[in-house]
Amino acid sequence: MSEKRSNFTGKIGFVLAAAGSAVGLGNIWRFPYLAAKYGGGIFLLVYIALAVTFGFVLMCAEVAIGRKTGLSAIGAYKALDKRFGFVGWLASIVPMIILPYYSVIGGWVTKYISVYISGQAHAAADDSFFGGFISSPIEPVGWFLLFIGITALIVLFGVEKGIERVSKWMMPILAILTVIIAIYGLFMPGAIDGLIYYIKPDFSHFSATTVLAAMGQLFYSMSLAMGIMITYGSYMKKDIKLESSVRQIELFDTGIAFLAGLMIIPAVFAFSGGDPEVLSKGAGLMFITLPKVFDSMTGGPVIGLLFFVMVFFAALTSSISLMETVVSIIKDKTKLGRKTICGIVFAGSVALGIPSSLGNGLWSHIKIANFDILGVFDFASNSVIMPIVALLTCIFVGYVIKPQAIIEEIELTGKFTAKKMFTVIIKYVAPIFIVGILIFSVLEGLGVIKV
Ligand code: PHE
Repeated sequence: MSEKRSNFTGKIGFVLAAAGSAVGLGNIWRFPYLAAKYGGGIFLLVYIALAVTFGFVLMCAEVAIGRKTGLSAIGAYKALDKRFGFVGWLASIVPMIILPYYSVIGGWVTKYISVYISGQAHAAADDSFFGGFISSPIEPVGWFLLFIGITALIVLFGVEKGIERVSKWMMPILAILTVIIAIYGLFMPGAIDGLIYYIKPDFSHFSATTVLAAMGQLFYSMSLAMGIMITYGSYMKKDIKLESSVRQIELFDTGIAFLAGLMIIPAVFAFSGGDPEVLSKGAGLMFITLPKVFDSMTGGPVIGLLFFVMVFFAALTSSISLMETVVSIIKDKTKLGRKTICGIVFAGSVALGIPSSLGNGLWSHIKIANFDILGVFDFASNSVIMPIVALLTCIFVGYVIKPQAIIEEIELTGKFTAKKMFTVIIKYVAPIFIVGILIFSVLEGLGVIKV
């Protein structure tokens, strides 16, 4: 391979880019609605406890695998043990599946920015606005192409000049906007009840489902089990402290999820007169309920615009990480140049994304086991392949290359303070939990259990 592997320039660049991947639609839209659905404060507590233990351990493992081998997922697993190359393949399928449909949703977000800029805040609050938009054949496809086009352009510029540069200014702005909107929302009359529901743990709401749902969310939110953190780890210089970088990414990711809840739950509570049901509407929350909330607030159109700009940044830095992971996989496997690969990935994603978009309208009659096209991709990646990859990664690190191999990589820059916890979790605790998530999410997805 002639081209030198590019790198993040320093710790901040790495942390912000990885946080850019982790902070996405999952934090802003999925986290608040899961928190509301699974009992508010208790979910938050369980989530945080899992993030600092389980999430931390898995992220350390993935970043270290990437940095140790200097390769993306397929090459990395194979380099460490020939028999485990297939785990890399499996992990690599996930971003290929997610990128197209994630960009369809990214396109919706982009559309909503234009809606707020062009003064249609009131129209957007109408019940049929969102449904009318996503079911039309052409318009959402256009927004999808714009979103994935921007993603491809940034990835084309490479790790340092594209990804790092964009993350370094988008992520701080995102954090500031989240704080501003959250504070603003808390001043709405009735918001305090929502705040209490969100932060005060009520132990009577605790159940095994709370833990499994929190765990499933954690994976998705931290961009684990899809080769992303391996790829980003492979761009990390050897003199950067791995343990503290992972702590910072985790803090950023969980912090934004927490603030997103703070931004959405009290405001929706105030708007709905304290009915938590309104929060559990899935996709409708962000695109139907929130526009109504913005419409009812003083200054709502401005807050709405800021909100969707923020969501756009979050979604874009995530789609960049998805595309970069796919690009780097192809780059490791072939001799093609970056431009050509970006072109191929762009074309492939367009081909897969258009059906996902049409599945909401023209092709809405196509259903596989009750899922529309977008739903099938989402289910296959999040509920099936990701838990399997996570499980295999734990087995791989715990029993094949052994935790010591990862610990050594982390200790290149000083003591790994969480060494014991790392070993115990990766060998014993995580595998059991992950099998639980796998069973739970498959049964839930297929409608066998209702939660
Ligand atoms: N972690 C992202 C989020 O919370 C989701 C994501 C998934 C990003 C897959 C990239 C890849 O939204």
